[in-house]
Amino acid sequence: MPFDVAAIRADFPILHRQVNGKPLVYLDNAATSQKPQAVIDSIVEYYSRYNANIHRGVHSLSQEATDAFEQARIKIQKHFNIAKKHEVIFTSGTTHGINLVAQGFSNLLEAGDEVLVSALEHHSNIVPWQMLCERTGARLEVLPMNAEGTLAMDQLKNVLSSKTKLVFVNHISNALGTINPIEEIIQKAHQVGAAVLVDGAQACSHLQPDLQALNVDFYVTSAHKMCGPTGIGMLYGKESWLEKLPPYQGGGEMISEVTFEKTTYAELPHKFEAGTPNIAGGIAFGAAIDYLQHIGLDAIAQYEAELLAYATQELGTIEGMKIYGTGPDKTSVISFNVGEIHPYDIGTILDQMGIAVRTGHHCAQPVMQYFNIPGTVRASFAFYNTKEEIDALVNGVRKAQMMLS
Ligand code: ALA
Repeated sequence: MPFDVAAIRADFPILHRQVNGKPLVYLDNAATSQKPQAVIDSIVEYYSRYNANIHRGVHSLSQEATDAFEQARIKIQKHFNIAKKHEVIFTSGTTHGINLVAQGFSNLLEAGDEVLVSALEHHSNIVPWQMLCERTGARLEVLPMNAEGTLAMDQLKNVLSSKTKLVFVNHISNALGTINPIEEIIQKAHQVGAAVLVDGAQACSHLQPDLQALNVDFYVTSAHKMCGPTGIGMLYGKESWLEKLPPYQGGGEMISEVTFEKTTYAELPHKFEAGTPNIAGGIAFGAAIDYLQHIGLDAIAQYEAELLAYATQELGTIEGMKIYGTGPDKTSVISFNVGEIHPYDIGTILDQMGIAVRTGHHCAQPVMQYFNIPGTVRASFAFYNTKEEIDALVNGVRKAQMMLS
């Protein structure tokens, strides 16, 4: 079946609005995706029909809400091919998942241990590990990057050793769109006995990771990049690791028994889900997965590859265009600068034309430092974008260049 982008766009109410008097051209999908009506409806439905707290009440509404929330957990489990339902922990998002694991390792590392991050990481996959190193005396090592914005895999052997206890890498770079060779990294890290956490925030809107096949120890992601709402995400952890890590937060729901002398903790996954969770968000995360599956991740990847190729070619015709991130394995993200023009100025002019892009360092300052630039303009495409919107972007950048040169 041909990819019916017009029908898909009809599912997204926001795509029909105007911005600054022009039709919205939304190309900031790496920051957050737009939401289809089905996801919006799932939130309205929850609050309109069965809003109640979960895992607590004997009453019918509570049971309905609990069933819907736990059903969403099962959808996530199946989508990512996770062996056990209780290996799925609801979080508020990727950053929460990373911090939960980083905090959990505080008593498992000691001075002399090493943790390895890649040079392509988002700040959320750098700072929590630096804080962990400060707490434990462990040392942070970095797997360097290359000029094309890919990881220098030939240097992995130099930074990985029996001292390495943990490795952190993003599945896809948010700043450049590079797809990292996580299979090889996981395999080599395991050979030296290190555990691996993969930050999948940018990946899960473009592809469908099989977490059992990857044999990864931890995988984190956010619903809002996957057509779901903000404030909800997933931490996958192998059962053996989740059993070993202490709870991240204390509170209701995460306990088995509390006395003033001692508390015993709840079984997984509740041990890591203190307090009332984002119930509507969890249910809507499930609805977002239903929606993505209905479109099909393979079809999405194929269509987005066409958009990426077209945008790369068309933007490449602009004089002074420099694209950062030119590796062979990329998702539909283009980070660029034009001559000496400041990215912020281009972004501001594009906004006047209704075109939304992100500008700046994209929470990945080390990547910008590598290229010795303050930032880039980043256009990130989703499966509901069109070639006409890419034409609008290219024309917009040309106009900005004329105005600013
Ligand atoms: N991490 C998000 C981005 O790359 C916010 O824009």
